[in-house]
Amino acid sequence: MSNLPLFNQPKEIASHFEPNADLVLFHGDVNDFVTTIPDASVQLIITSPPYNLGKAYEDKVSIEAYLETQANTIAKFHRILKPEGSICWQVGNFVDKGEVFPLDIYYYPIFKELGFSLRNRIIWHFGHGLHTKKRFSGRYETILWFTKSKEYTFNLDPVRVPSKYPGKRHYKGPNKGKLSGNPKGKNPSDVWQGLVQEWEECLWEIPNVKSNHPEKTIHPCQYPIELVERLVLALTDEKDWVFDPYAGVGSALIAAIKHNRRAMGSEQDGVYIDIARERINAFFDGTLRIRPMGKPVYQPTGRDKVSQIPPEWRQATQGQLLEPREEYK
Ligand SMILES: C[S@@+](CC[C@H](N)C(=O)[O-])C[C@H]1O[C@@H](n2cnc3c(N)ncnc32)[C@H](O)[C@@H]1O
Repeated sequence: MSNLPLFNQPKEIASHFEPNADLVLFHGDVNDFVTTIPDASVQLIITSPPYNLGKAYEDKVSIEAYLETQANTIAKFHRILKPEGSICWQVGNFVDKGEVFPLDIYYYPIFKELGFSLRNRIIWHFGHGLHTKKRFSGRYETILWFTKSKEYTFNLDPVRVPSKYPGKRHYKGPNKGKLSGNPKGKNPSDVWQGLVQEWEECLWEIPNVKSNHPEKTIHPCQYPIELVERLVLALTDEKDWVFDPYAGVGSALIAAIKHNRRAMGSEQDGVYIDIARERINAFFDGTLRIRPMGKPVYQPTGRDKVSQIPPEWRQATQGQLLEPREEYK
């Protein structure tokens, strides 16, 4: 359980927005919920919206119809965001008859027209997934981070990562001989991969690597809590409100309460709402399994059976591709 003051004991999960609540989970349409949230009250809106892929929770419609619905909803977020607040929109591709529509490109003008400013387009890279036959296999999604104004919250220190070369020194100029890095670590950059590789490996179900990620539920498109944690820490302060409009099984809410932020979410599917409630309660009683933030990702050692070239491939082209090669000179 969190030992921070706001959540030092299990909190009630309100089912509607209440000014004194610390946790709200609304079962219903985001468009109904958002009208109940006061003006300029939310510090971070973070979500992975439906992608229009025909998943269990969505009807596939034309890209135009999908974007129009989304634009109408997004327009309602401007009012509830604090002036120094942010919106993070995590999307991949919409694919129709083999044609790829990169959703972030379509979403960008929607936010821009509302007056939001893009601060980063974060690449969320993962090592595994579906192997496509008529194009290169997709291995990343993006997170568009927009702010409402020029004066926005950005806390770099809590999300710094270890420097690669902490002992590096300036070799010329007035600081010659002095250490060039920051003892607190370096900026994690806009390409995030470490925290996803293991996640993808589990979905891919490599035998002997990991058949079950600790956080996996029945939801088909859950994102890792760790992905949200970095944004919560960088873009909000303690006790701020974090809102996931498409809350699914509550991953963003858990990332928020884990770091002593208030959390609210809306979700139309009652089954996911029940799982989200269970997960939040499990977080409070200390039984929720969460992959620790910053835990090093699994790297094949070459000794594992799955990372060795199988005997059947020794003669095949793939086998030759996998053999160690001489260094390029
Ligand atoms: C991509 S999933 C989000 C999963 C979430 N990030 C998690 O980790 O569990 C999108 C979710 O939005 C929900 N949804 C779709 N349209 C909605 C709407 N109009 N109002 C509320 N929820 C909606 C779906 O049921 C689905 O669970």
